[in-house]
Amino acid sequence: MLLLVSCLFLHLYPAFAYLYPDRLYEELEHLLVDTNGYNSGHFAVGVTPCTLYFQGPQTTGRQTSAQWMRVAFHDFSTANVAAGTGGIDASIGFETTRPENSGIAMNDSLSYWAPFVNTYASMADMVALGSTVASAACGGPIFPFKGGRISATQAGEFGVPEPDEELQPTLERFAGAGFSQTRAIQLTACSVHHAGFPLIVDTSVVTPNNTQGGIHFDDTVAVFDNHVVTEYIDGTTPNPLVTSFNVSQRSDLRLFSSDNNATMQGLQDAATFASVCTDVFTQMLNTVPSGVSLRDITPIPLKPVNIQLGVSSAGTATLTGAIRVCLS
Ligand SMILES: *[C@@H]1O[C@H](CO)[C@@H](O)[C@H](O)[C@H]1NC(C)=O
Ligand SMILES: *[C@@H]1O[C@H](CO)[C@@H](O)[C@H](O)[C@H]1NC(C)=O
Ligand SMILES: *[C@@H]1O[C@H](CO)[C@@H](O)[C@H](O)[C@H]1NC(C)=O
Ligand SMILES: *[C@@H]1O[C@H](CO)[C@@H](O)[C@H](O)[C@H]1NC(C)=O
Repeated sequence: MLLLVSCLFLHLYPAFAYLYPDRLYEELEHLLVDTNGYNSGHFAVGVTPCTLYFQGPQTTGRQTSAQWMRVAFHDFSTANVAAGTGGIDASIGFETTRPENSGIAMNDSLSYWAPFVNTYASMADMVALGSTVASAACGGPIFPFKGGRISATQAGEFGVPEPDEELQPTLERFAGAGFSQTRAIQLTACSVHHAGFPLIVDTSVVTPNNTQGGIHFDDTVAVFDNHVVTEYIDGTTPNPLVTSFNVSQRSDLRLFSSDNNATMQGLQDAATFASVCTDVFTQMLNTVPSGVSLRDITPIPLKPVNIQLGVSSAGTATLTGAIRVCLS
């Protein structure tokens, strides 16, 4: 049997090295590429369409794609690159009761990813794959994906930046994780985040169609685009971390304006935004503890799927399975 799939990102990877069998590679590539139809890896189901809330009613104001990016950011942001600790290591699984990780996004996401974890693919790889697949499901940039992360066996450091934190400590946390002020602004502008009442927005946002008071950060909820930037610049942003009635919760305003809005102004062009977001997300997702080495997981142009050789008692050999062909 011949399976044809469209591999949008094939052209991004001129250098390609795959030797069958290579279980980690095959497993992660399957989840990344086989997003629907026959032989689907089912990983992308949770974020298809982009506005879906997978774990409950569509009236809570929650969005699974945004949750997946939030989890990656929370897992990453306590990295200490000088010490070679933290980053994307799934330590977040031991940190869900910390106030800095409040909300159901962590548990929702980790529960969704758990069945995809096996001998080859780690939960830490799922954390990174989640953001990669979510961006693609929302029409955002395709982040080059690497695999081979190792999951932590215990909690890591505290220190996820919070909405009511002052600018200086926030910049210090980003610096510790390897992000300059400019890149901290870029990553924050690129991240889809979620805020809820009552600390940040008032109860008027709660309606029958938004029972948990979720607030979107721009007017294009179903698309990963740069409206979060353009609406900030033109003063129409709904981003509560810019406009909150509670001034101490305006962490995005403090960060975005910390260089007189220069970085935000540089993100107004849609193509620039997409390429900068690819850069900063790639840096974030590939920030891992020292000693972990990552490998490129690129679409495999010709991939054997479920190949089995059977031999009957009469001595007849039968080879079954499929060859998946990537159309770019
Ligand atoms: C997430 O799950 C952990 C472990 O089961 C639990 O202790 C924690 O309270 C849960 N968090 C939320 C917000 O439900
Ligand atoms: C505003 O945010 C601060 C810091 O989190 C919090 O202590 C305070 O209660 C909030 N104010 C209101 C009116 O909710
Ligand atoms: C809630 O959503 C339904 C279905 O999309 C729509 O018909 C209704 O007008 C919405 N109600 C409010 C209060 O926005
Ligand atoms: C930055 O942009 C925001 C939003 O448009 C604006 O409120 C703020 O005054 C600007 N700050 C500086 C220093 O230009």
